[in-house]
Amino acid sequence: MGRFSLRFNEMIAPLSRRQFVATGARLAVSTLAPKRLFATTVSGTQRVVIRADSEIGIVRPEFHGHFIEHLGSCVYGGLWVGKNSHIPNLNGYRKQAVEYLQALGVPVLRWPGGCFADDYHWRDGIGPREKRPKRVNIHWGGYVEDGSFGTHEFIGLCRLLKAQPYLAGNVGSSTPHELRDWIEYCNYPSGSTLSDERGANGSPEPLRVRYWGVGNESWGCGGNMRPEEYARLYRDFAVYCREFGGTELFLVASGPSGNDSRWSRGLMDGLGWERPQGMSMHYYSGGHDRSTTFAVDHMNEQLSSYAKVEEAIVHQRAVLDSYEKGKEIGLILDEWGVWDNIPAEDEKQYGKLWQQSTMRSALAAGLGLNIFNRLADKLYMCNIAQMVNVLQSLLLTDGPEGERCVRTTTYHAFSLFKPHRAKTAVRVESDDSSPLGLSISASKDAKELVVSWVNPRHDADLQVECMLKGADLSVGTAQILHDAEWNACNSFDAPDRVVPKLLTVRVEGSKILLDLPRLSVATAVLPIR
Ligand code: AHR
Repeated sequence: MGRFSLRFNEMIAPLSRRQFVATGARLAVSTLAPKRLFATTVSGTQRVVIRADSEIGIVRPEFHGHFIEHLGSCVYGGLWVGKNSHIPNLNGYRKQAVEYLQALGVPVLRWPGGCFADDYHWRDGIGPREKRPKRVNIHWGGYVEDGSFGTHEFIGLCRLLKAQPYLAGNVGSSTPHELRDWIEYCNYPSGSTLSDERGANGSPEPLRVRYWGVGNESWGCGGNMRPEEYARLYRDFAVYCREFGGTELFLVASGPSGNDSRWSRGLMDGLGWERPQGMSMHYYSGGHDRSTTFAVDHMNEQLSSYAKVEEAIVHQRAVLDSYEKGKEIGLILDEWGVWDNIPAEDEKQYGKLWQQSTMRSALAAGLGLNIFNRLADKLYMCNIAQMVNVLQSLLLTDGPEGERCVRTTTYHAFSLFKPHRAKTAVRVESDDSSPLGLSISASKDAKELVVSWVNPRHDADLQVECMLKGADLSVGTAQILHDAEWNACNSFDAPDRVVPKLLTVRVEGSKILLDLPRLSVATAVLPIR
């Protein structure tokens, strides 16, 4: 499954980060930080050039998308507690979680899986809850779930969060007819049996779902197919996935694990005249240790994998672009994030794949979000796995029955990147292409420049000097997420141990200057004069 995707990435030749930045004018850069991966303690000046005059593309808000699955305590007990729960709720949705997520803003939300999607039959999740069948979740622990969170409950959550819904259809164990009917049920305004059934179930207005996944990980848990087999099935399904009632569909084909171009090429070769609007890829960054007890070399190894994520996006984009019909296909990083070693006792206490998010996880989030800005012209959407209580979560609850809900370090890293949304990413030039070097991205609109930095080094405090070209700035505001202990986290007893704090950033002429301590993520929002 996804957590092993690193294997595929080792199969391609590495590209340096400099291949992603402009080849134009370059400032002579001197850095005291050694380029070696695991160096001893150093501090020094890191110089970069921000090219406000060199645009990459729009930072689509969908780069900050989310994913939820019927897995552990993500949906049941995490987001959905039911109206009769002792946990404070809004019509069944965990109130604290909804409020935190509303504050962050959720552009898009993918559901119901993951592996679960290819064993999910949408009719199990509509109609009176007491009549919904109870099904065994074959992928995630074999527990019985009651289907009380179905299509309407998912759309209700999306409406609360103002998120675009993204439904993952079942290809592995279903038929084109079943998926076609789900689309009609959701999107046809009224007058057909399915649309009237939706109305009788409480939603007379069409749900207008645009994003539809046609299977998930079809090379693995979604059917164990070869690319040509999946391409054949994709064509069958896509013929019947139609626009009902004016909601234009955006179909997402199941793409590769990591950077497996054998899959993407096989898919593209087999598609014929059918062309999806998007192709998904999944890339998890595996970890050897339990989240809160990471060894330093394992942290460095995991954080270094983000250079491979960057390579993979560039490479997969190039594969799509090498096909005439691939140029228009949006590349979607449908599942990403850190997948640490999860002890059985944690899963028993909190739910399957429950893992803490630490300062290290925040660095990973920041590295990823910086990549998405830098590759804004190559990506369409990115969904972190997963929103609550599973893998690199933004929120954690103390088990499905627990009332406490904390914002993780990953939540705070995402909040630091929020000012980039809908701005135009601009190029940043740096001479440091090492996987653990200073990571930086910038974006602008007519009013302000936003710059984000990640210092993933555990042993180097940096003075950062950014030479700005193409804009004049005033002094603005900046925030930093930092803890010198990489295993630090927001626990239920200390929910605000790692939170953003104010950071001093100086603007001197055309230079932006700041101190960036080891293990930190920071963002400055600077008005353009
Ligand atoms: O996010 C957990 C699992 O990882 C998903 O169900 C699957 O798509 C991937 O392998």
